[in-house]
Amino acid sequence: MVVKMAVEDTRVSERERRLMGAETVPASERIARLDGEIVFDVDHFNAYYGTFRALYDVGFQIPSRKITALIGPSGCGKSTLLRCMNRMNDLITSFRHEGSMTYHGIDLYERGVDPVEVRRRIGMVFQKPNPFPKSIYENIAFGPRVNGIKGNMDEMVERSLRAAALWDEVKDKLGQSGLALSGGQQQRLCIARALAVQPDVILMDEPCSALDPIATLKIEDLMKELARDYTIVIVTHNMQQAARVADHTAFLMMRPDRAGELVEFGDTDTLFTTPRDKRTEDYITGRFG
Ligand SMILES: Nc1ncnc2c1ncn2[C@@H]1O[C@H](COP(=O)(O)OP(=O)(O)OP(=O)(O)O)[C@@H](O)[C@H]1O
Ligand SMILES: [Mg+2]
Repeated sequence: MVVKMAVEDTRVSERERRLMGAETVPASERIARLDGEIVFDVDHFNAYYGTFRALYDVGFQIPSRKITALIGPSGCGKSTLLRCMNRMNDLITSFRHEGSMTYHGIDLYERGVDPVEVRRRIGMVFQKPNPFPKSIYENIAFGPRVNGIKGNMDEMVERSLRAAALWDEVKDKLGQSGLALSGGQQQRLCIARALAVQPDVILMDEPCSALDPIATLKIEDLMKELARDYTIVIVTHNMQQAARVADHTAFLMMRPDRAGELVEFGDTDTLFTTPRDKRTEDYITGRFG
């Protein structure tokens, strides 16, 4: 009896959806379709952990060589969505998806697509810097070596560390442990490590949340620099950060059944100044979440 009540309580009625403002603006007006080269095209995408639905019918596009931010309250599925973009969720046995997630026109989940190659092209940087317990040099050299990338390793290490704006700080101590660096330096080492395998996209899940404001600004400057050559998708809880760095922003929110829904997607300035959906406005003005 108790279980039945719980199920009924979480069911979403049309009235509740209207009360939440869900029907105020049709999705076609809240979710911008983009011009230019599209890297990811997400369409009617649903994600499940067992019977729990974590993403509800998400659809948007991510343009090439731009920074796209995913924002929204805790638990709305930002990390889930990010992990779907390089098939990291494959490692979770209860995970399954519906709908499509294409990368340069290829469905990432199609049979025959090699998840290892997917993760080489689409790298990831995590919330907590996680260098290998090895030297700075080895942290960078490991990826190219296991991926069979040919070339002069010293040059590859230097190039990656320069691209991650870390070279000048570590060039005289490449043999020292990566774990001996400061948090901000460790995060840039992780970015350098991701760059070393010559990716196309870098996914970042709250990459600055363990860092102080100065280290955070350094990573933000670095992101803008990297966006000349790479497509970047960043999850952040820091709305100022999204406003500072992102070209486009996606706002997700939990439905009453706790599945994450994409409420609005568009260029960052518009989303923060004249949001189309009341729920976005409430979130960015701090009225909930
Ligand atoms: N491995 C997992 N197994 C089962 N449920 C999961 C798993 N990972 C996430 N979830 C659930 O999926 C939902 C979305 O989680 P997710 O981590 O994607 O949210 P989030 O928006 O990144 O939150 P936060 O801002 O707190 O990081 C949550 O209800 C969470 O409990
Ligand atoms: Mg998360």
